[in-house]
Formats: sequence, structure tokens, C-alpha cells
Amino acid sequence: MNKEESMAKVALLSKIDKREAVVGIIGLGYVGLPLAIHFGQEGFKVIGFDVDVRKIDMLHRGESYIKHIQMGPINDRIKNGHLEVTVDFKRLKEADCILICVPTPLTDKMEPDLSYLLDTTKTISETLRDGQLIVLESTTYPGTTEEMLLQGLEIGNMKVGQNYFLAFSPEREDPGNGKFNAANIPKVVGGVTAGCLEVASALYDSITQVVPVSSTGVAELTKILENTFRSVNIALVNELKVLANKMGIDIFEVINAAATKPFGYTPFYPGPGLGGHCIPIDPFYLSWKAREFDFATRFIQLAGEINVSMPYYVIERVIEALNQHEKSLKGSKILVLGVAYKKDIDDERESPGYSIMKLLLEKGAIVDYNDPWIPVLKQTRKYNFQKKSIPITPDLLKEMDAAIIITDHSAYDYAEIVKHSNLVIDTRNATSKIERVDGKIFSA
Ligand SMILES: NC(=O)c1ccc[n+]([C@@H]2O[C@H](COP(=O)([O-])OP(=O)(O)OC[C@H]3O[C@@H](n4cnc5c(N)ncnc54)[C@H](O)[C@@H]3O)[C@@H](O)[C@H]2O)c1
Repeated sequence: MNKEESMAKVALLSKIDKREAVVGIIGLGYVGLPLAIHFGQEGFKVIGFDVDVRKIDMLHRGESYIKHIQMGPINDRIKNGHLEVTVDFKRLKEADCILICVPTPLTDKMEPDLSYLLDTTKTISETLRDGQLIVLESTTYPGTTEEMLLQGLEIGNMKVGQNYFLAFSPEREDPGNGKFNAANIPKVVGGVTAGCLEVASALYDSITQVVPVSSTGVAELTKILENTFRSVNIALVNELKVLANKMGIDIFEVINAAATKPFGYTPFYPGPGLGGHCIPIDPFYLSWKAREFDFATRFIQLAGEINVSMPYYVIERVIEALNQHEKSLKGSKILVLGVAYKKDIDDERESPGYSIMKLLLEKGAIVDYNDPWIPVLKQTRKYNFQKKSIPITPDLLKEMDAAIIITDHSAYDYAEIVKHSNLVIDTRNATSKIERVDGKIFSA
């Protein structure tokens, strides 16, 4: 350790220890906003940065743009000056620790879209100063922190581990999870140098348990392993669901029975397909990188194929169910229940509900939707439905030829839905406790 490294490190460690370090968070979305609240609750002054003026204005007005996040703690902190939110990125120089939570989506060609990260790296480089810690939290392929951030930040006399510190710590936030949050989810941390690891670990140690690993690559691949594990296991139960339906066996009963094994089995549940900003996307970051090593990630590919095929399976089941009621899909009135990618959240990114609605419309069905969490369908890169959520009433359900449960929101009264509907296609086992009326409920 040279003298410069030791001085910058000791000064930053001392600021973190005394909660005097200012934490800057770039990207105030599903990940960044809860993180900002959490560091604030732990006594740090936080400055949140976002390019979206609308979001910053809403926060200043005390309004939330993420339904499950309580505004109380945010408003209190903004009022007493412990949390500032801004679009002025010059203020990044005020932050001692900068945490990057910007999107890492895929392009239309299923390749990593690192444009947000590139922009952020450039912005940070413009105000980078001695004694700053930069941590990438966005999910990405192994190598990104050192190949992109390090390359972009190491300009002039700024040397990593001496003047500034750089680390990767994957975000494991699970929106809407009432049990696990930033305070009790352990943080895996990998640094570019031993000093970087020490400083980043000290920061996260002040909010939760830290799991230090030997490199940024290990930390990056850890996150992708976690999400690939889920994608592969969901694909497995999705495939088995299709087979079990043919065999007349209830796959949910099978999974619940298997879950009683006290070791060696983790239950995963089938559904209408994968959604959200993580599981359908992250594994493909690794597949893309693997090509550099002439390596094909076959599990990821196969899981992707099965999960992507699930909306088509749901449509097949809808056609079959309508057929039994002597109806065709063309011209049938279909009510889609739930477009959020999982229950009780307002995030519809990559939702299978979208692909199912598109397929229904293409086949000539008349489609409406209800989602208590998503009042309007926003235009996305792929879809433009221009629809609003319509209220569920007994009359509406009677008028529909079929209702398809895509998302099992807790707010739904499944008994009432089944009672008033002509036909219910259930992709989530949401009606398992409702008394079966012959031919009325179809699992899909
Ligand atoms: N949502 C999750 O459940 C979750 C969980 C774990 C990890 N992640 C990962 O965390 C990262 C962020 O995901 P998210 O769900 O919070 O995304 P998000 O879209 O909800 O939020 C990202 C925010 O970044 C802002 N932004 C975009 N470009 C910016 C820039 N150049 N500078 C500043 N702000 C910018 C956007 O306006 C947006 O508010 C992704 O890599 C994602 O894979 C997400």
C-alpha cells in the first residue's frame, strides 16, 4: 500500500464510520429509490440523481411513481435536507460514495444495452475527484466494471485504489417483498483492488451484512448465477406443467408435495411466462459474453426458449377452453386479469401479460384488461395497446366469454371472479381454493 492510497482510504473509511460520507445514488428507479431511503435511514446524507425530470419533480411534490414505496420516509428526509434529489449531475462531486443503479436492458437483438452505463461512466468521469468510491449495482456480465467503468474513469492522474475506489455489488432488491429488503439482504461486494473492496465493504457494512468476494468478476457472475438459477428452474416447472396438464395431474399439488422434502429441493412455480427487468434479461448478458470465449450457455438458451413459449401455451389453452364452450377465440370477449409481471407490484416490464394480449388480439379476440396496480398501459418499445384498466363488476364478468388470470394480485376476489365468469383460465393456481364447477375453470 502506498502513502496516497493509505491517506485517501483512511479518510474515506473514517467518513463512512462516522456516517459523514455523502452517498450519491444514480438512477432512482425500483432499485435506486429504496436504496436512497435505506442509506438515509442509516444516518447518511443522500443525494439522488436521475435524468428523468418528471420523477425528480414528483419526488419534490411528495408524490410516488412506484406504488409499493411509501412516501413518508422520503418526504421527511427531503424536508429536513437529509435527502436531496436532482437532475444536476455536477453535484456528483459532493458525493463521497456513488452507487450506480441505472437500467441494463437488452437490445431488440437480445444483446446487452450498456448505453445507460456508458453515459453514467462519462458523467462520473467529468467530476471524479480524490477520495470517491464508485460502486456499480446494475446487473451486468462479468467484466463490465473493469472493462467499461475502469477504462472510462482512469483518465488523467486518477488511479484506482489510490485516488478513487471502484467496486461491484449486485443489487438483490425484490420489489414488494415484505420480508426481505435492503436491511436484511446480504450484499456481495467485489473490489478492483484490495483497498476498493475494503472501502466498499465498509459502506455496505453500515446498512447490512457484507459478503466480500475476491474480484468484481466474481460479484458480477454471482448475480447472474442467482437469476439464471431461477430462470432454469422456472423453465423446468413450466415444461413439467405442460406435461402434467396432458396427464391430468395438478402440477401445483406435485410441487407442494415435493416441497415437503426437508433437503435438496427448492420449490419454483410455473406461470404464464417470465417477466420483469431481471430474470428474462440477465442470463442473456452472460450468453452474450460467453460467445467471446467460444462457449454456448445451453441451459440459458433452453430455459429462455421454454419460458418464451409459455404465452403461446396459454393461448392454446384458451382456445381449448373456449372450444369446450363451443366458442372460437376470434370474436370472443376476453378479460385479462393482471398485467404486472408479478403480484402486488406496479411493474409491467417484460410482462407475459403483454405478449398474451398481443397474441389474443392477433387472433381476433376482443380484449380488455383489469389491473388494480396498472391503471393505464404505457407504450413500450414493443407494444402500444392504448388501453385503460376497466373495473371488475359482476355484469362485466358475465359479459365476457372468458377471464384469464395472468397475475394473482391479492386484491382480487377469486371466488367472485369465478362465480360471475362464464369461463376462467388460471395461469397461477389462484383459484385452487375455489370450489370447482365443471368446465368453468381451466388451468393453463
Ligand atoms: N427491479 C428489480 O427488481 C431489480 C432487482 C435487482 C437488480 N436490478 C437491476 O438494477 C438496475 C436498475 O433497475 P431498476 O429496476 O431500478 O430500473 P428502473 O428503470 O426502475 O430505474 C432506473 C432509473 O435510472 C434512470 N436513468 C437512466 N439513465 C440514467 C442516467 N444516465 N443517469 C441517471 N439516471 C438514469 C431512469 O430514469 C430510472 O429512473 C438494473 O441493472 C436491473 O437489472 C433490478
